[in-house]
Amino acid sequence: MELPKQLFFFFLTLIFLSGHIGLQAEARVRHYGPTKLFVFGDSYVDAGNTRKDQPGSWKQPYGITFPGKPAGRFSDGRVFSDYIAKYLGLKSPVPYNLRKMMPNNLKYGMNFAYGGTGVFNTTSKNPNMTIQIDFFEKLIKENVYTASDLSNSIAYVSVAGNDYNYYLTINGSIQGFPSYIASVINQTTKDLIRIKNLGVKKVAIGGLQPLGCLPLITSTSSFQKCNETFNNLVAIHNNLLNQSITKLKQSYKGGFLIIDLFDSFTSVLNHPKTYNLHNELIPCCLGTSQGFTCGDVDNNNVKKYKVCENPKTAFFWDLFHPTQAGWHAVYNKLQNMNALSQLRN
Ligand SMILES: *[C@@H]1O[C@H](CO)[C@@H](O)[C@H](O)[C@H]1NC(C)=O
Ligand SMILES: *[C@@H]1O[C@H](CO)[C@@H](O)[C@H](O)[C@H]1NC(C)=O
Ligand SMILES: *[C@@H]1O[C@H](CO)[C@@H](O)[C@H](O)[C@H]1NC(C)=O
Ligand SMILES: *[C@@H]1O[C@H](CO)[C@@H](O)[C@H](O)[C@H]1NC(C)=O
Ligand SMILES: *[C@@H]1O[C@H](CO)[C@@H](O)[C@H](O)[C@H]1NC(C)=O
Ligand SMILES: *[C@@H]1O[C@H](CO)[C@@H](O)[C@H](O)[C@H]1NC(C)=O
Repeated sequence: MELPKQLFFFFLTLIFLSGHIGLQAEARVRHYGPTKLFVFGDSYVDAGNTRKDQPGSWKQPYGITFPGKPAGRFSDGRVFSDYIAKYLGLKSPVPYNLRKMMPNNLKYGMNFAYGGTGVFNTTSKNPNMTIQIDFFEKLIKENVYTASDLSNSIAYVSVAGNDYNYYLTINGSIQGFPSYIASVINQTTKDLIRIKNLGVKKVAIGGLQPLGCLPLITSTSSFQKCNETFNNLVAIHNNLLNQSITKLKQSYKGGFLIIDLFDSFTSVLNHPKTYNLHNELIPCCLGTSQGFTCGDVDNNNVKKYKVCENPKTAFFWDLFHPTQAGWHAVYNKLQNMNALSQLRN
């Protein structure tokens, strides 16, 4: 097991304060960075909210790397919210839907993210972002989280493309996309402001990752290369998001930031060997015939998917999601880019 960061600093502080008592060192640790993490959005950060009757996340072979069985994450193991919590030295915050089962874990914050959701309605099964923020607001009204808790907390918001996927599904083409992108950014901006105004100290949002590199898109080219048409649309999204967050930072004197998932994904995908990854565009878990996808079984409970030999060397897990190794590589890259330090201060 790796030593959690806080513990590491705790020991360091102890060493430097060898003449002083341990309590003093502990007090220092407590004031180091935010003490709670609140998570909103979709499957890139859902750690168990999506219910068991829905595809993926709670079905074999999800979770085979961590924790070793399906546990509600859309990956073979940890997802991005787990890495953000790790960076902050916090336990991964408890999923909203499981909060009554783990009442002791409320102190690390809460995860309101549900797979498949967007800022608009993209699925009838899971709550969109408006509703996720409603859940948060209700808990604040019930004093589960106080103003002082919130003033020492951070929110991470994932808007990873379900709005666009939904648009393509109902509309069939990318015509009309640019103005739709603008409305997604407008709604996202409203959501971020709402979270901030509830008292959260800092609100971070993921820049959109290169959708054109997702196996869902590259399957038409046998996972050979990223689709630049899609990545150019993603650039429009990220430019508008940048403009919007730049304005918010001005009017709120800081308080917002973008975590650049475009450059970090792209860099890992362009230099897979640096991260011990292979066949970087091919998903590890794939349906074995038309109409089936990772985790599917037929009526006789026969598996209709195949898992690669070593998920630890694959970047993508299924058609949409990175593996734990993929997220870990992105996390390392973000740290090299110094893109996370603002989360702490
Ligand atoms: C989110 O869902 C709720 C209830 O289903 C709906 O009333 C609301 O309009 C949706 N929000 C957006 C921005 O679409
Ligand atoms: C979102 O879906 C809910 C039902 O799930 C519906 O009541 C609401 O009107 C929808 N909102 C929008 C903006 O489409
Ligand atoms: C679907 O695309 C057409 C253009 O082909 C556009 O006019 C329309 O607004 C789009 N639909 C939605 C729901 O945005
Ligand atoms: C987005 O918001 C801006 C500024 O508030 C506004 O000018 C623009 O018309 C909006 N665009 C869409 C598509 O809603
Ligand atoms: C990329 O996606 C667009 C839109 O779906 C499609 O028209 C185009 O053929 C794709 N390009 C490649 C190289 O697959
Ligand atoms: C927007 O993009 C510019 C240029 O890449 C960058 O310097 C700036 O930090 C970005 N703003 C935000 C809020 O991320």
